[in-house]
Amino acid sequence: MRHDTLASPAILDTSSLPLEVAVVVPTLNEAANVERLIERLSLVLAGRGWEVIFVDDDSADGTSDLVRRIGRTSRHVRIVQRVGRRGLSSAVVEGMLATAAPIIAVMDGDLQHSEEALPNLIAAIEGGDADIAVGTRYMAGGGIGDWDEGRARMSRFATRAGQLALGTHVSDPMSGFFAIRREAFERALPRLSAIGFKILLDLLASSPEPMKVAEIPYRFRTREAGESKLGARAIADYAELIADKTIGRFVPVRLIKFLMVGGLGVFVHLAVLRSVLGAGSGFVAAQTAAVMTAIAFNFFLNNSFTYADRKLRGGAIVAGLASFYAISAIGALANIGIGTWVAGQQERWWVAGVAGVLVGAIWNFAMSAALTWRK
Ligand code: GDD
Ligand code: MN
Repeated sequence: MRHDTLASPAILDTSSLPLEVAVVVPTLNEAANVERLIERLSLVLAGRGWEVIFVDDDSADGTSDLVRRIGRTSRHVRIVQRVGRRGLSSAVVEGMLATAAPIIAVMDGDLQHSEEALPNLIAAIEGGDADIAVGTRYMAGGGIGDWDEGRARMSRFATRAGQLALGTHVSDPMSGFFAIRREAFERALPRLSAIGFKILLDLLASSPEPMKVAEIPYRFRTREAGESKLGARAIADYAELIADKTIGRFVPVRLIKFLMVGGLGVFVHLAVLRSVLGAGSGFVAAQTAAVMTAIAFNFFLNNSFTYADRKLRGGAIVAGLASFYAISAIGALANIGIGTWVAGQQERWWVAGVAGVLVGAIWNFAMSAALTWRK
């Protein structure tokens, strides 16, 4: 071991031991924190075979380069650098897939999760029969630190929502600090949503049979360097995760979003129709303007809401919009054709209307998924 070349003398290299535990750390602009985190991990995990895997979404502050530099002298330290990708949960899943360790811990890279609790999390799995050990803030010995009342209340509300929707009794299902047995992770893997940032909730809800959970208290620390990344988008992602884990079993959440956008498009259509007619235009011209506007409206809202994760930008928008117009035109023909056919089969006019709309909408959804927003 060449300690003299280590980035920090506190990072001891004991990497010749068999690998027992991997710590997966998602990072986005945490260059000010990772070195201290590695030092602290090497203290609390001393004597074990361990590694830490940073999964960095190409941070602008050079987090990946910094981790690589430390990794050149300590085999405990690894990096997965993702380019053109975003998302805490998916980063954690990729980190978990990148290790051979039998126990995988997950913690934040900003020193808010207290590493002193880490050995307890690991011990609960090694020593006991828990599949997963969860660091909890809501238990004697734990705490939420100095969150303001607003964030504390929001967290309590989201915690209740998660517990109710998923029928879990874990006291802190929102925690980003836990350790899991590799087999338990692998059993949940095929059903993971990996949306947003609540990977623990996702793992618990995706397990084919309920996981055996141990709870270990910890105190959530104040962030000292860098800033929190969880804003309004995180709340929308959370709602989507809950939807995916509940109704998502029956209908894809993306289809629901697409239909919601389509519903709003009807209002846009009517508003344009009314104002163009009001301006003295004939019906054909007004209806044409309304259709064209509503399709464009649907395209842009689907692009930033339904397909936020595959959003078309720049020049791709022109091609995307053109394909969406073409698809919608065929969808409209299918709508009319099916509607007419159903109207000939039975008496209720509205059944025919709804049938046409549904077939047209499903056509639009399927074709735009395959062409406009193809992967
Ligand atoms: N790779 C990657 N990609 N990492 C991310 C991303 C992302 O899109 N967004 C955030 N991170 C990293 C941050 O760099 C940090 O290491 C960690 O994920 C947590 O992000 P913060 O922005 O610090 O979140 P927080 O402190 O508001 O909330 C955290 O702690 C709560 C309590 O445990 C999260 O872990 C919550 O899920 C958790 O409830
Ligand atoms: Mn944080």
